[in-house]
Amino acid sequence: MPIATLDQLSRPVRDLRLSVTDRCNFRCPYCMPRSKFGADHAFSPRAELLTYEELARLVGIFAGLGVTKVRLTGGEPLLRRDLETLIAMIAATPGIDDVALTTNGSLLADRAATLRAAGLRRITVSLDSVDPQMFAAMTDSPIALDTVLGGIAAAQAAGLTPVKVNAVVQRGVNEAGLLDLAEFARQQGLVLRFIEYMDVGTTNEWQSGAVVPAAEIIERIAAVHPLEPIAATIRGEVARRWRYTDGGGEIGVIASVTQPFCTDCTRARVTATGELFTCLFAARGRDLRGLLRAGASDAELVDLIVGVWHARTDRYSEQRSADHQSGRRAEMSYLGG
Ligand code: GTP
Ligand code: 5AD
Ligand code: SF4
Ligand code: SF4
Repeated sequence: MPIATLDQLSRPVRDLRLSVTDRCNFRCPYCMPRSKFGADHAFSPRAELLTYEELARLVGIFAGLGVTKVRLTGGEPLLRRDLETLIAMIAATPGIDDVALTTNGSLLADRAATLRAAGLRRITVSLDSVDPQMFAAMTDSPIALDTVLGGIAAAQAAGLTPVKVNAVVQRGVNEAGLLDLAEFARQQGLVLRFIEYMDVGTTNEWQSGAVVPAAEIIERIAAVHPLEPIAATIRGEVARRWRYTDGGGEIGVIASVTQPFCTDCTRARVTATGELFTCLFAARGRDLRGLLRAGASDAELVDLIVGVWHARTDRYSEQRSADHQSGRRAEMSYLGG
């Protein structure tokens, strides 16, 4: 039986989000603006990245503490070579019953089947617009919308269903395309989730005026396709779910700004370089790589992780709603979203 590890707000650790790289082939302005992530940007050197053996060892340790769900993120995780090898190692870890991946979809078309065969259970593709020009502006990359759509289709064909699609909504940027995205997702049988634009990191010059509140998003969609709420089923789920009353599937909203969900936050995050974070909005994490490479025993690693989790008081999004001020924060592309 896993040891019950609760933080200061009585939250267990259930989900592990592992970033496998801080690199990405897109430059979404809200995440990796080219002005700050240009050709000379210093990404983490390869030697500093946790190896698959190190990552899999950590997964085993977290599983012993109660983690059942692992999500691989980045940067763009499919840029890391042979990700299938890591997926197979994680899928074989006792206690882990859910292995998922969040990707920008650009490299998915050729990989979906091998990812599935390696043991991937679920996939989420980021897609902020189905208009080719808006897509190009949202990703600031020469990779075409059709490439990502091909990736989504391949994931469906590989049985990674239902494929989820994440769309970050920004006021006056891609908000005019919300309905088109919803229509596309309904036609294709995708679970679309609209995400409120968050003040994560310090490079995207976030302003509260750029957030389109989830309630408004739902109102706009429901005006065309009536919706009814679906009761939450899983503790710690970030999306509030809705179903189309005509049977056209479901959509979700991730309302981290207007309806924070810290009370149920059961997520631990490990960066590609092995820093343990207990909140998306933290400035820095605790170094696990140093311990791993110094030959620490499993018991020593457990002690450190349990100590960090036990001391945890994070509830940034709730405090932000109460006008909390903050300074330095890690970037989303580094932390893994
Ligand atoms: P499942 O529920 O497992 O399907 O996935 P998920 O929604 O947790 O993962 P995904 O990577 O698709 O994340 C969706 C959005 O929710 C992203 O913008 C994340 O940054 C955001 N998100 C995920 N976890 C947290 C969290 O703990 N706090 C905040 N504020 N946002 C989060
Ligand atoms: N606000 C909200 N979501 C964001 N993402 C990246 N940056 C932000 C932000 N500032 C999303 C990505 C991806 C997910 C992991 O996080 O689009 O879908
Ligand atoms: Fe890359 Fe995702 Fe960040 Fe866009 S949001 S730059 S696809 S990591
Ligand atoms: Fe968890 Fe921090 Fe997000 Fe709150 S803001 S849900 S504590 S990661």
